[in-house]
Amino acid sequence: MARLVIVSNRVPPPRARGAASAGGLAVALQSFVAPGTLWFGWSGRVHERTSEKPRLVEGHGVTYATIDLGAEDYDRFYVGFANSSLWPLLHFRLGLMRYRREDFEGYLAVNAAFADALVPMLRPDDVIWVHDYHLIPLAAALRARGFAGRIGFFLHIPFVPPSVLEALPPAREVLQALCAYDVVGFQTRTHLADFLDCAHRFSGFAVDGDEVVTDGRRVRAIADPIGIDAAGFARSAARSTGTAYIQRMKDSLAGRALAISAERLDYSKGLPNRFEGFARLLDRFPQQQRRVSLLQIAARSREDVEEYQTLRRELDRLAGDINGRFSQFDWVPLRYMTQTVERTKLAGLFRIARIGLVTPLRDGMNLVAKEFVAAQDPADPGVLILSRFAGAAEEFSEALMVNPYDPDQIAEAMNAALEMSLEERQARHAALRRAVFEVTAARYCNVFVDALAA
Ligand code: G6P
Repeated sequence: MARLVIVSNRVPPPRARGAASAGGLAVALQSFVAPGTLWFGWSGRVHERTSEKPRLVEGHGVTYATIDLGAEDYDRFYVGFANSSLWPLLHFRLGLMRYRREDFEGYLAVNAAFADALVPMLRPDDVIWVHDYHLIPLAAALRARGFAGRIGFFLHIPFVPPSVLEALPPAREVLQALCAYDVVGFQTRTHLADFLDCAHRFSGFAVDGDEVVTDGRRVRAIADPIGIDAAGFARSAARSTGTAYIQRMKDSLAGRALAISAERLDYSKGLPNRFEGFARLLDRFPQQQRRVSLLQIAARSREDVEEYQTLRRELDRLAGDINGRFSQFDWVPLRYMTQTVERTKLAGLFRIARIGLVTPLRDGMNLVAKEFVAAQDPADPGVLILSRFAGAAEEFSEALMVNPYDPDQIAEAMNAALEMSLEERQARHAALRRAVFEVTAARYCNVFVDALAA
């Protein structure tokens, strides 16, 4: 069998047996990678210069190979083009997009450096699976260095229609780079359709069904929603409820309902809107005051990107406003923390929560929505409030769906969730749970790898 080579900007540390690892992509793939797999990417470290040779670490038969980035490459590739141009653009936030030619050059240069470091490790029959927006030009860079095997790409974030993509000065180059892959995967049918429209418009290639026909080759586009290890997460949630940590949480709630949100501190997640929605709940439905506390976990992220610093200041202020306005001496409505919480603890917190608030303004999939559902006790489940602009909304019609731009909808959904009968909660949860156990991480990986092998 051909060897699988995974390439992603972030590479998870080799997993110590039994330990939970972090991050959706890492978790989804780690349950899948077989011994013999090679996983290549950035070490997460920044030095004076980008390294030429990867550092190798073995773990459970998987070889993890990573390179460090030079300071200038980090600024142009990671802070610059990837996270200040592509990330806002592909989340429909043109007002936040910043573009510099030198950033795009740095983006191409780092992709070339990835290819230089990877090629000596490749065998001709390797199958390469590249992940996410940092590495769009990698296939072309590998082809230019002589690799002729199969290369697939999966985009974990949304894709946009041509009228949005055209704002990106190198739109055509980016589209052509995507067309150097054999298979390109998206989270939803909507993103896939937008990609085909853009391919038609910007690359100059013809589109035939779900395929782009380039000079003599066909690029197959697929929708392959990512999932979680639902059974594993459910087990870990059930186990976690017996721990001292979860008991402390319950004690602190003193019988009140817990609403929970957990994500990276990112402007795509709709945090200010959510805070405002929560304030409206307390304002418009005063009977809910003292009955509910919202725990917002917003792990600090990409702190070298200016927009993230601005957002953090805004959230500090909003959290202070809400608590100043509504707190009573023995009840604080909003518990806001920017540290990360271990996955097993998070699973337990989800399980005891009455409401899971997942209200991004845009999201490729959003695995927190899936984890929240998997973590629930089917006999007494919490209610998922979900943004219609998360990829997960395509699979989750039984969630309480909101438009996150409207804080009143968030307030009304929270009120409905707090008042919902046990029967309705159970019925909604049963349907969501079926979806989570059907579209799992393993299925996601198998669908992609099968398409790539075809
Ligand atoms: C999103 C992206 C991932 C990325 C992660 C964390 O989920 O799709 O590719 O790794 O955010 O962001 P960071 O910038 O810390 O890698």
